[in-house]
This record gives sequence, structure tokens and C-alpha cells, in this order.
Amino acid sequence: MLSYRHSFHAGNFADVLKHLTQAYILNYLNRKDKPYFYLDTHAGAGLYSLNTPEANKTEEFRQGIARLFEVEPKHPLLQAFKTLISSFNTAERLDFYPGSPAIAAKLMRPTDRLALHELHPSDFQLLSNTFQKDKRIKISQNNGFSAIKAQLPPPERRGLVFIDPSYEVKTDYDTLIKAVVNGLERFANGTYVIWYPVLQAQITNAWLTRLQKAGLPNLLRIEHSPLPLISGYGMSGSGLLIINPPYSLAADFKNLLPELNTLLKQGTKGSYLVEQLI
Ligand SMILES: C[S@@+](CC[C@H](N)C(=O)[O-])C[C@H]1O[C@@H](n2cnc3c(N)ncnc32)[C@H](O)[C@@H]1O
Repeated sequence: MLSYRHSFHAGNFADVLKHLTQAYILNYLNRKDKPYFYLDTHAGAGLYSLNTPEANKTEEFRQGIARLFEVEPKHPLLQAFKTLISSFNTAERLDFYPGSPAIAAKLMRPTDRLALHELHPSDFQLLSNTFQKDKRIKISQNNGFSAIKAQLPPPERRGLVFIDPSYEVKTDYDTLIKAVVNGLERFANGTYVIWYPVLQAQITNAWLTRLQKAGLPNLLRIEHSPLPLISGYGMSGSGLLIINPPYSLAADFKNLLPELNTLLKQGTKGSYLVEQLI
């Protein structure tokens, strides 16, 4: 039984990096007229109120999206991201934070298609309630890793596969590698985003090495840690592995990460990197 609920974490520092990247890639895909497919393997509840007992228990959003709301960011991508999140809110108040499904539904066009997968019964229900009227969206309560095999290649032959597990099940790390290798055999030119937590350097690095050895092509790593890495003290940062990223993404993120780090770092100087792994 899954116990992870993203409502406790929505809008935290990891979500900011994750959704900045997601929005960047969707906007890039929008530049061409041709329709595309978005596969969200671990969709969560879709959209989150920040006024719930869950959000207020951890208050993680205060060290994440709330910090961006307190300032006028300088980098155009940070400004655009703030505008995007504002569009889910009224006036200047931060009451809602969109999950990856709500961001995709907002940015994608009428001719594009979305498939959302979520296993948790309560989050699946919330997801269904939010998006049931949107004809572009198909929502399934099944295993997102299996969906990679089942849904690729998409007839559109363009798209984004967004893989954002909670890693609650420890075998997810292995399952993910197999699923992505399989996905690439079916849909080699798709863009894939894989989220991972920065918990312990040794474990992260060993997993990255295994991913590299799996023969993934054109793999970019972006990481941001607002907290110092102290083993056993939880998540100090988060990272994204991007297969087939838009050509401009690495340079743009190298530019915006210093400002993002200044905004989100917590009591230390923080750290970030953009690295082409393969
Ligand atoms: C980190 S949350 C997703 C957040 C979401 N992608 C976002 O950005 O708003 C991970 C979600 O995956 C769900 N989940 C865990 N294992 C799953 C699986 N094998 N297939 C589909 N969903 C799964 C969890 O219930 C949880 O809601």
C-alpha cells in the first residue's frame, strides 16, 4: 500500500526545479505546429491547495514557491514561471500550486494529448475529478512504469515522458532503468525527464553510473541542493535527468540556476550543477 501523498510536499524546492524544467520542455514542444503526446507516469493529485492541513503540516512550499512569490525575479524564465503559477491563483495570493498534470494541461494545446497515471486511490480520484471534462486527457489508475511500454511509441511521434516517482518502493530505482531502456527502444526521439532526490551522494552516484551504463543517449543532469548534504538528514536537494533535452536547455539552466539558488538556499550557500553525462 502506498502511503506517500504529494499534498504534503507540493510547491517545495524540488517541485520548483522539476516544474520549471517541465514547463520549459512543453513550451519548446509548443513551438512546432505538430501535435505531441505527454505521458505522466506518476501524476499525483494534479492540483494542490496550500491551505490544507497537509500543506500546513510541513510548510515545505514556504521554502519553495513562496520564496519566488516574495520577489520580482530577474531571469525571464523565472518570471515566466511565476506568471504560470500565478495563473492558478487570484490576485497576488498563493493559495494553489499546480502539479505536473495541471501544468501540462495549462500549457498544452487543443490538438495535443495527455496520459496521466496514478496508483494511489485517493489521488487518482482527485485527479479524475479535476480533469474529467478535458477531452485531451486520459487518466488511468495503473502502474506508470508499465505505461511506458504500453503507450509508446505515440502516434504523434513527438512528446515528453515525465517520470516522477516517490521511490517509496525501493525497487523503483531498478524498475525505472528497465522501463526507460524499453521506452527508448520504442520511442527513441522522445524527451524523457526523470526526477530523483539527493539523499546520499554515494547512492545517487551509484545509480547514475548504472543509468549511464544502461546505454541511454544524450543524457543531461541538472541538480540543485538548497541544503547541505548531511547523510541521514533527508533530502538536501533534487535532480533531473533529461534524455534528448531541447538543445537550449543546458545553457538556459546554467544561466538561471544561480538566481534560483540565491532565492531558495537555506542557511548555506547551496549548490547546483548542469552536466552532460552522455
Ligand atoms: C512525487 S508524486 C508525483 C507528483 C507529480 N508528478 C507532480 O509533479 O505534481 C509521486 C506519485 O506517484 C504515485 N505512484 C507511486 N508509485 C506509482 C506507480 N508505480 N505508478 C503510478 N503512480 C505511482 C504516488 O501515489 C504519488 O502520487
